Parts: sequence; C-alpha cells; structure tokens
Amino acid sequence: MDKLAAENKRIKVIHQRAKKGLGSALKEGFASAKYEYIFYIDGDSPFRMSEFIRGFPLLERADIVCGYRINRNDTFSRYVCTKVFNFLMKTLFQVKVRDVQIGFKMFRKSIFEYVKPKSDSMFIDAELLIEAQHEGYKITELGVEYKERAAGKSTVGLREVFKIMRELIWFKIRKELPEVKISTITTMRDAIRLYSDQSFGIRLFVRVRHLLCPLEILENWIPKEGDILDLGCGHGLFTNYMALRAPYRNILGVDPSVKKIKVAKMAGSKVSNVHYILGDINDILENKCFDAITIVDVLYLLPVAKQKEILRACYRMLKKSGILVLKTQDTKPLWRFVWTYIQEMVMVNAKLTLGDRKLHFLPAKKTRQFLEEAGFLVEYHKLPTRIFYPNIAFLCRREEHGSC
Ligand SMILES: C[S@@+](CC[C@H](N)C(=O)[O-])C[C@H]1O[C@@H](n2cnc3c(N)ncnc32)[C@H](O)[C@@H]1O
Repeated sequence: MDKLAAENKRIKVIHQRAKKGLGSALKEGFASAKYEYIFYIDGDSPFRMSEFIRGFPLLERADIVCGYRINRNDTFSRYVCTKVFNFLMKTLFQVKVRDVQIGFKMFRKSIFEYVKPKSDSMFIDAELLIEAQHEGYKITELGVEYKERAAGKSTVGLREVFKIMRELIWFKIRKELPEVKISTITTMRDAIRLYSDQSFGIRLFVRVRHLLCPLEILENWIPKEGDILDLGCGHGLFTNYMALRAPYRNILGVDPSVKKIKVAKMAGSKVSNVHYILGDINDILENKCFDAITIVDVLYLLPVAKQKEILRACYRMLKKSGILVLKTQDTKPLWRFVWTYIQEMVMVNAKLTLGDRKLHFLPAKKTRQFLEEAGFLVEYHKLPTRIFYPNIAFLCRREEHGSC
C-alpha cells in the first residue's frame, strides 16, 4: 500500500502502531475521510472493487448501502449462526439486513455526525447499522458477487461469530439501561434552539414543557419513517423534536390555538419534514392515513364521550401496524393527581391552554378500556414523574388492515 501511495498522491495509507482490531481501524479510517462518501471493503478483495459503482445511485435515496453476498457457500454451522445473528438483529434492534458483517459498505460521511460507533472489534459492523437505523438513517442493500480471496483466508471462525453475538446481547442490555441517550439530548437541545427568536415567555414555556414531560421516551416508540400526525401539537416542541430525530418522518402538527400554531410554524420553518395546520381534534382528516399518531397531554381537555370517539377515529386513520402514542396523566396517587388538576385548571382558566374550563381526566384503566374497545393492542407505561406529575402513556398498535 505504501508503494502505491508513493506512486499516487490521491492514496493515503493510515498505519496503526499496534493491531487494535477491525473496529479501531475502521473508526480511524472514517475519521480521516475527507469527502462526502465513504466506501469500505475487505483488503483481501473477496469482492470486485468495481461493484461499488453500482452502489452510488442507491446513495441518492439511502444513507447506507450494505452489500450482501449473492453466491455465498456457507457450511451448515455457519449458515445457522448467520440466521440466528440476523434474527437477533431484527428482534432486538429492528435492523433487517441479509449480511450484517459483510466487509462491503458505503455511507454518506454525514451520518457520523450522529452515529458514533465505539466498538474496536468486529462488532463495529452491527453497531454501525444499529446506531444508524436508530438515528433515522436509511439503509438499503446491494447484492454483490463473492469470489475467491486474492490472498489469505477469512479469520472469522465460529468462535468469532459467538463473540459478536455476545457483544450484540450486551449492547442491547447496556442500551436499555439509560433511558435517554446523548444523541437524544443534543437533538432536544436543537429542537429548543428553534425557538430562540421567540419571546422570553415562549422560550420559557418550551423549556418548562421539556422538563415536565419525558418526550424523549415517547419519541423512541415512533417509527423512524412514514407519515406521522401530532394532534394538539401546541408550540410544536415534540413535533419538531420528532422531525429532527428522523429525517424520513413526514410530520403534520395540528392545534386549534392560533397563537401556538403560529409559533410552531415559525420554529418548524427551519425543519423540512414538518408541517403545521390550524385545526381541532374533532375535525381530524379522516380520509388521510398515517403510520403513527401522537396525542400528548390533550385528551383530558375533551369530554369523555369525545375522547372515545377520537380514539376510534385514530384507529381508522392508522395503517396496518400503525402506532398510536397516547400520553396523559393518571388519577393516582391522589396527591399527584390533585397537583396536576390544579396546575391544568390554572392553565385552562388563564387561557394558556385551550379548553372548555372543565377537565376530564380518566383513570389509566378506563383509558386502556377505551383504547381496547377502539381495536388497539395496548401496552401501558408508567413514565418518570417529573415535578410530581403522574405521567403515563399507552403505546397502541393497530394489528389489522383497514381502509388505510
Ligand atoms: C398541554 S398542551 C400539550 C401540547 C403538546 N402536545 C405538547 O406535548 O407539548 C395541550 C394542547 O392541546 C390543544 N388542544 C386543546 N383542545 C384541543 C382540541 N379540541 N383539539 C386539538 N388540540 C386541542 C391546546 O391548544 C394545547 O396546545
């Protein structure tokens, strides 16, 4: 390589002083890359170098092109291991690619602004795909022909495969431990910054809203792409945050407050995948279909019969496997509920929140019943209580096909 580099100034060789593992080498390579696209391939050429030309057009509509071997000839044990590994990737991280560990991948360099792989080992391939998907980047696949290695032989035996699987499971455990990741914190900061040219009151309101409601946890449940409706979006903090977290989400925020929707529109004008309209939850567009709907701290502002009706309408507007995230407040324990009730009463009466001056909080059990009656499969979640609020949420899924 050094000889080639001496002959061609466009080739840059990076030497690692000690053998530190594939992950370490790749990270150093990624960090040194100067241009928009990065391509990596195993050095002993098990693929034709020219195959990457076919990958370029795919980077028009995806951020990562992951190769897969079209003519692999695995032993039985290797075949089983690959199947198990792919199954784990799919069930634990919802990453669905055929050949996770392949040394043939292309990226946009910009993904590394948010994707920061840590692994020094062969696990880096899986880590990259998991983190990229989590950050909302799009992965596509390209079938590549596998040929005899020009030199050496693969050092990846079954032992290595088991090691990577172990790392994968540990990675999942570690990931689940902290509820809020660094990247979510930085994106939330970006979302709050969208309001920096608003009045002091609105800037304060948005910051307090962030402190009171664990929006990051709710966002985690929303699909990373597709059409999303945020009903009663208010100033749009959660709406804009969802949009910033995943560029392939197409988000519509709806709120009946003229003032709030104006602020949401101004803040959202800097984000390309979010739009706002002035509207009431009662006249939601039933002829539209969504991959997810969010209702965050809105339902208790509506009469109980209306709440039931809205949940049924949401069900009808969701595509198969669509998600409804409903965040509300519990009526238990009583002292927490009383605090919430008083605070919401103040907000409604001071006209800081639109509502009919009556609140219609329901016990968690009742809300669950309404959701199930509407047809949803329901998961109930107690959320962290911020400043006494009994925050709860329902993660609901539409399992059947409908008109959407
Ligand atoms: C507590 S705020 C929550 C705002 C936003 N979802 C959030 O999490 O930051 C309640 C919102 O519900 C809106 N709202 C009140 N009545 C509504 C209705 N009938 N339809 C839709 N939104 C409504 C209010 O304008 C307000 O923005």
